[in-house]
Amino acid sequence: MIWVIQLIIVAVFGAQVFGFNISTNGTNSTIIQASINSDNFQYKGVALGGWLVLEPYITPSLFLAFNATANTTEADIPIDEYRYCEVLGTTEAKSRLEAHWNSWITEQDFANISSVGLNMVRIPVGYWSFLKYPGDPYVKGAQNYLDDAIDWAKKYDLKVWIDLHGVPGSQNGFDNSGYRDIGYPGWQNKTSYVEHSYEVLHSIYSKYGTESYRDTVIGIEVVNEPLGPLLNMTMVEQFYTTTYKDARNTQTLNNTIVFHDAFQALGYWDDVLVNKKNMTTSRRSQYYNILVDHHHYEVFTVDGLNQSIGQHITNIVNYATDIGKESIPAVVGEWSGALTDCTPWLNGVGIGTRWEGTSPYKNKALGKCAGVNNWSKWLLKDKKDHRKWIEIQLDQYGSKTKGWIFWCWKTESTIEWDFQRLVQLDLMPQPLDNFTYIKNGTDTDPHKSGSISRAAQLKWNLVITAVLLVVSSV
Ligand SMILES: *[C@@H]1O[C@H](CO)[C@@H](O)[C@H](O)[C@H]1NC(C)=O
Ligand SMILES: *[C@@H]1O[C@H](CO)[C@@H](O)[C@H](O)[C@H]1NC(C)=O
Ligand SMILES: *[C@@H]1O[C@H](CO)[C@@H](O)[C@H](O)[C@H]1NC(C)=O
Ligand SMILES: *[C@@H]1O[C@H](CO)[C@@H](O)[C@H](O)[C@H]1NC(C)=O
Ligand SMILES: *[C@@H]1O[C@H](CO)[C@@H](O)[C@H](O)[C@H]1NC(C)=O
Ligand SMILES: *[C@@H]1O[C@H](CO)[C@@H](O)[C@H](O)[C@H]1NC(C)=O
Ligand SMILES: *[C@@H]1O[C@H](CO)[C@@H](O)[C@H](O)[C@H]1NC(C)=O
Ligand SMILES: *[C@@H]1O[C@H](CO)[C@@H](O)[C@H](O)[C@H]1NC(C)=O
Ligand SMILES: *[C@@H]1O[C@H](CO)[C@@H](O)[C@H](O)[C@H]1NC(C)=O
Ligand SMILES: *[C@@H]1O[C@H](CO)[C@@H](O)[C@H](O)[C@H]1NC(C)=O
Ligand SMILES: *[C@@H]1O[C@H](CO)[C@@H](O)[C@H](O)[C@H]1NC(C)=O
Ligand SMILES: *[C@@H]1O[C@H](CO)[C@@H](O)[C@H](O)[C@H]1NC(C)=O
Repeated sequence: MIWVIQLIIVAVFGAQVFGFNISTNGTNSTIIQASINSDNFQYKGVALGGWLVLEPYITPSLFLAFNATANTTEADIPIDEYRYCEVLGTTEAKSRLEAHWNSWITEQDFANISSVGLNMVRIPVGYWSFLKYPGDPYVKGAQNYLDDAIDWAKKYDLKVWIDLHGVPGSQNGFDNSGYRDIGYPGWQNKTSYVEHSYEVLHSIYSKYGTESYRDTVIGIEVVNEPLGPLLNMTMVEQFYTTTYKDARNTQTLNNTIVFHDAFQALGYWDDVLVNKKNMTTSRRSQYYNILVDHHHYEVFTVDGLNQSIGQHITNIVNYATDIGKESIPAVVGEWSGALTDCTPWLNGVGIGTRWEGTSPYKNKALGKCAGVNNWSKWLLKDKKDHRKWIEIQLDQYGSKTKGWIFWCWKTESTIEWDFQRLVQLDLMPQPLDNFTYIKNGTDTDPHKSGSISRAAQLKWNLVITAVLLVVSSV
């Protein structure tokens, strides 16, 4: 009996889920217009990172718990949520995760998010919270908290992006996908991983793409940060266009379907989705109410790190201008206040920093990391530079793109990645357009520190110190 039902389910849904139903133009006949969509909305958001998908640097305490005895080392610390569940086993993992889900984000957070002038939240969630892949150690259960979050968002008049942050095998190999395997995103290893991802999205569309969410769920992001340079981009494009069609077929709510840029150059998705370059006839379709999600950090390459605040400011002006020239509406859906990669475990448990050139990075050190999360150690210059870095992004993304979403709302101990702490420390303007230094893309600070790079500065400091030493010893 069961197999008969399964057969029927496959017959009815399979074609749509797996994209075989290409005869439609992807329009459900009973469409309900979302109360607001990305055409008439300017994003000012935060991501609830580290909540429904764990990230060690956001909540280190959950991971440091494994390093609690005298005979453990950092090597005993699970590196991601997958290993966290694997090491603890389902019962213990569930109990710890439930405690975390219950406490890390509460209704009060939504009240506060609203009170600091934000208008939406991006909520990362893993595929395993909808449908586990056979053999997964993951704990299912986060979906109830997502539902609470949507209720709270509605209460405080905030919009929600549901963001599928992890797919089977990992779309990027980063710990934030649930499964870390740096350099080896395994998502496309098996057809079943990709098919599983379609199924998960189908269940998301079926539930959250309905009338009851019309006031709140502004968009659904089909997959976060697929690492295009290491994936087969033809397959990524196929995934986007197929799941888009499924969204429009499945949903009655005409909300925004969000595509991360997959680390491709600006304009790439215009070519694929608007200009339809290189696209086979069968995949052509009408795309409406879509949004491209660009993420921008300047701390994950040595070149990016080795720049003065003046250079960082120029980068943002140029970057936002170029986004503004794209055809598909776009946001900067992740950015932060970071000017170094010093926050412990930012690059992953057990991984060093480019800033200090520690393993596995082989570059020359650019500076010292000590004190990055200790406010009393910050120099006036650090405070100013960070404030400018935040202001220029608010200014440029806010005026030249559909808006921005800061990563993230809160962390246990960072400064640069924690919206709330940045507000408390007066590095994040309040109100959000109350700028101290930046006026329309320009640094108006009369005491601008020079435009030389960090490394050059460090060298000069050393030279000056040496000269002083020589002078004082004479
Ligand atoms: C394709 O979708 C259309 C409309 O959504 C539906 O009428 C048709 O039965 C579907 N065909 C298949 C093979 O699923
Ligand atoms: C979809 O097809 C129907 C019937 O062919 C047409 O009326 C409708 O305008 C189309 N919708 C879009 C978005 O192309
Ligand atoms: C070392 O670890 C084991 C479990 O891994 C534990 O049983 C033992 O008590 C620990 N020893 C010390 C000295 O902490
Ligand atoms: C973990 O334990 C090792 C060995 O006791 C220690 O050297 C290391 O600093 C600890 N790591 C953290 C992050 O506390
Ligand atoms: C909300 O904001 C208030 C006032 O700034 C603060 O005291 C409180 O800790 C915040 N609560 C949460 C959960 O963010
Ligand atoms: C995917 O394939 C690569 C290369 O063979 C391998 O290193 C990796 O472990 C695989 N990952 C998964 C999740 O299957
Ligand atoms: C990428 O995927 C497409 C579609 O499955 C396939 O035709 C192509 O050969 C793949 N390219 C590479 C380099 O594997
Ligand atoms: C349109 O959406 C509704 C609600 O999600 C669903 O019940 C219905 O099957 C969809 N229609 C088609 C043709 O897919
Ligand atoms: C389209 O194909 C051309 C030539 O094969 C290639 O250079 C270009 O990058 C492709 N564009 C996209 C969007 O895939
Ligand atoms: C869906 O929303 C878009 C953007 O507002 C609009 O252009 C389109 O006509 C809507 N489609 C339907 C079928 O309501
Ligand atoms: C703007 O921010 C400054 C501190 O950065 C603060 O003193 C001032 O009160 C703020 N202005 C308004 C209108 O809130
Ligand atoms: C802001 O700067 C841009 C580019 O430099 C200029 O075109 C625009 O007029 C300026 N806007 C205001 C309000 O000064």
